[in-house]
Amino acid sequence: MKKIRVAVVGVGFVGLLHIEALRRLGNVEVVAICDSFNAQKRGRDLYIENTYTDYEEMIDKEKLDFIHVCTPNNSHFEIAKYALNKNVNIVLEKPMTYTIDEAKELYYLSQEKKLICAVNFHNRLYPAPAYIHNIVKKGDIGEVTSVTGYYVQDWMLYETDYSWRLIVEESGKTRVIADIGSHWIDLVEYTTGLEVDEVFADFKTVYETRKKAVGHIESFSTDAADEYEDIPIDTEDIATLLIRFNNGAIGSAIFSQSVAGKKNNIEVLISGTKATAEWSLTNHSDVKIGHRFKPNETITKDFILMKELAGTFDYPAGHTEGYADAFKQVFKQVYNGNSLGLYATFYDGLRQMIINERIYESAKTSSWVKIGKIL
Ligand SMILES: NC(=O)c1ccc[n+]([C@@H]2O[C@H](COP(=O)([O-])OP(=O)(O)OC[C@H]3O[C@@H](n4cnc5c(N)ncnc54)[C@H](O)[C@@H]3O)[C@@H](O)[C@H]2O)c1
Repeated sequence: MKKIRVAVVGVGFVGLLHIEALRRLGNVEVVAICDSFNAQKRGRDLYIENTYTDYEEMIDKEKLDFIHVCTPNNSHFEIAKYALNKNVNIVLEKPMTYTIDEAKELYYLSQEKKLICAVNFHNRLYPAPAYIHNIVKKGDIGEVTSVTGYYVQDWMLYETDYSWRLIVEESGKTRVIADIGSHWIDLVEYTTGLEVDEVFADFKTVYETRKKAVGHIESFSTDAADEYEDIPIDTEDIATLLIRFNNGAIGSAIFSQSVAGKKNNIEVLISGTKATAEWSLTNHSDVKIGHRFKPNETITKDFILMKELAGTFDYPAGHTEGYADAFKQVFKQVYNGNSLGLYATFYDGLRQMIINERIYESAKTSSWVKIGKIL
């Protein structure tokens, strides 16, 4: 049987995860990788023979069906545009691009080419959020009146913590918003079916300069360095956000990469006129439903209890499916033609780019900012 030919560009932290998840699909073969740093060694480690440092050369030679773009944010556009023009389907890491104009151009090009184009907002594809999406849609919690929560980590706590994400030229104008806030907002819009209509944000930068280790350091590395250089920082370490949704519901959230002890914690509390639905990445198999006049419920991932979600998880109750599995579920949907309509498309990616920008404008002007038209 012929397998789908896939290549991954950018084989750092998340690129490796893409390769691992892709290899678990069965109908897909990762035939090539491209990385501007150490490509051959990475290929040897991964048992992938075709390695490139130039994505154009790889796309031209490898007769690809799909490409996964896992490079820093400032290169997503050029790689995706080149691939689309060569009729290659795409899975792009988030944030979709560096600027809104780039995201719009890619969106229109994807429409013209009629290719499969996804953005990896993978939090939607844990079973529990997909379940919440369904019960909110069915009206089980009533009309949503408020949404609160957070996305917090601690890998940027110290002055010596460093990543390309700190540099505006590589990451974009916002940092925690683009990096983790956008995941939370996509998750909330997806689970509630609501749209963020207006935002009020406040940003804090903890260190005005950071100490960058001299040499090549990958994301989330804990390697100590012998030598550091001072780098000025002009993006936020912490963001708080107030939200008005399009149905009149209100919300609030905090996003931070400087909360000691919180490694990668996401919480969402969706309150409706009948009940409350709650999800935490810490116990990601569970959905908690809060009631007023009857006992609260915990619904754990299960083929029977969540039968309408067949196809979004693979193992029976009690057999945990986590971060890497959520990636696998996104790719399963992508490679099976989005049979359940669950993954984020280029439209969703563009929408989050615009929300990021409006949040940035709000923090700079200390005022409510409308999200406005997407296209
Ligand atoms: N969905 C998620 O949960 C998630 C998690 C982490 C990162 N991301 C996103 O994935 C992307 C990559 O993040 P990361 O943490 O893996 O970064 P990383 O620094 O660990 O890896 C990036 C890799 O890309 C390579 N690279 C850079 N420019 C390149 C180019 N022009 N051509 C080829 N290779 C190039 C680098 O050498 C490096 O190996 C970012 O857009 C980030 O926002 C998403």
